[in-house]
Amino acid sequence: MRKPIIAGNWKMNNTISQSLKLINEIKSYNLNENVEVVVCVSFTSLYEVKKELKGTNIKLGAQNMHWEDSGAYTGEISPLMLKEIGIDYCIIGHSERRQYFNETDETVNKKIKSALRHGIKPIVCVGETLEDREKAKEKEIVKEQVLKALEGINKKEEIENIVIAYEPIWAIGTGKTASSDDANEMCGFIRNTISKKYGVDISKNIRIQYGGSVKPNNIKELMDKEEIDGALVGGASLNASDFVKLINY
Ligand code: G3P
Repeated sequence: MRKPIIAGNWKMNNTISQSLKLINEIKSYNLNENVEVVVCVSFTSLYEVKKELKGTNIKLGAQNMHWEDSGAYTGEISPLMLKEIGIDYCIIGHSERRQYFNETDETVNKKIKSALRHGIKPIVCVGETLEDREKAKEKEIVKEQVLKALEGINKKEEIENIVIAYEPIWAIGTGKTASSDDANEMCGFIRNTISKKYGVDISKNIRIQYGGSVKPNNIKELMDKEEIDGALVGGASLNASDFVKLINY
């Protein structure tokens, strides 16, 4: 049985004081113990938020990382720095990094391998553009992203630590959530792609999230779908009450 995972991607929001305020609001609620909760916060807040999460079951994630441990990469953050803070997860390959910061399938693959080497669980983002979908190319695009992301990763114990987030780009921040059937079909397609590469057992254990305008009014329908194991949430994760409604769906 796959444990559901609801992850909040705060993106470029919240100063340290705002982060601590939001975390303490979330902590004030009774959270569904059958759901794994992750908050992925900005680099500047990670250390303080980690301290604030002590004694809770809430996991901490970063939103990006470099694949090298150190070096002349101005402005970048290394997995060693993140591991020292004690993060559990790292979002890798988010569409906004692919769109604005030259993230490629190749750098995604390097980052995933580096994260796994350092005991950081990758949340690997894949998803098509509206143009891809209008041309009925979503499966071709997502399959290529999944296979390139996982190239050269073959150990069962590595795959088991990877979460995949299917985030149709046209649904991110738009309020246009994919229908639960479409989201389920794509998550099932991703699972089938994993099955063909690694076998049925691994594919049945890997967790696949949906992301893209997940809100309290659509979370239950999404989570009731067989192939959807959770959500990667932007806007709704910035409001404690809304985020908790997703966790307690
Ligand atoms: O990573 C999650 C994010 O891209 C989804 O954003 O605001 O549509 O929930 P949002």
